[in-house]
Amino acid sequence: MSYLLTDVTTLNLGFLASGRGSNMQAIIDACRDGRLNAKPTVIISNNASSGALERAQSAGIAGYHLSRKKHPDPCSLDLVILQTLQRHDVNLVILAGYMQKIGPKVLNSFKNRIINIHPSLLPKFGGRGMYGMKVHEAVLAAGEKETGATVHLVSEEYDEGVILAQRTLPVEQNDTPVTLAVRVLEVEHNLYVETLRKIISGEIGLPDKAIQL
Ligand code: GAR
Repeated sequence: MSYLLTDVTTLNLGFLASGRGSNMQAIIDACRDGRLNAKPTVIISNNASSGALERAQSAGIAGYHLSRKKHPDPCSLDLVILQTLQRHDVNLVILAGYMQKIGPKVLNSFKNRIINIHPSLLPKFGGRGMYGMKVHEAVLAAGEKETGATVHLVSEEYDEGVILAQRTLPVEQNDTPVTLAVRVLEVEHNLYVETLRKIISGEIGLPDKAIQL
């Protein structure tokens, strides 16, 4: 294990986000007000009209729409995303509601340096097709007494990488998917910032980033 990120003076964050981008915004705010010693440098979205790209513009951060529409060949899309992250000297890739699989080039070049947040207590309610409101619907349908959020490293499979942090909250009797989503999202914002702070301080060690041949 190497306690990473000590080899860079400024930790540059690159975001991948598909939607509203509230988790991304929570992290940007924490960087701007000094809670996080990191610099948001680039935001990539597969959705041209995403809130995430609007937020990029408002925050004065470089934003790019990179999608299958623009790059129908998956290899070219993977490469252009990688080149964009590299051009902005990204050290850590943050997935913030990114509803696409990460390509092999980005995964290999940023091995153990891509993190994601998921709105459940993984491994429960994760995997293909489990995202956003669907997760909360499934939690309620299963009669769960508690739910939460998970920050994890990104691997080849959806929601399967090493878990870095989790926070739990109770499911209330009168919860609907919407009320649950609101409470979980608030937990997500805090958990994501707190986990990043611990990664930056070395309290949470990430595995070595060496590419395995
Ligand atoms: C968040 O709840 C995040 O955990 C979830 O999408 C939402 C994005 O909200 N991600 C997943 O479900 C990934 N499997 P945001 O755009 O406001 O951050």
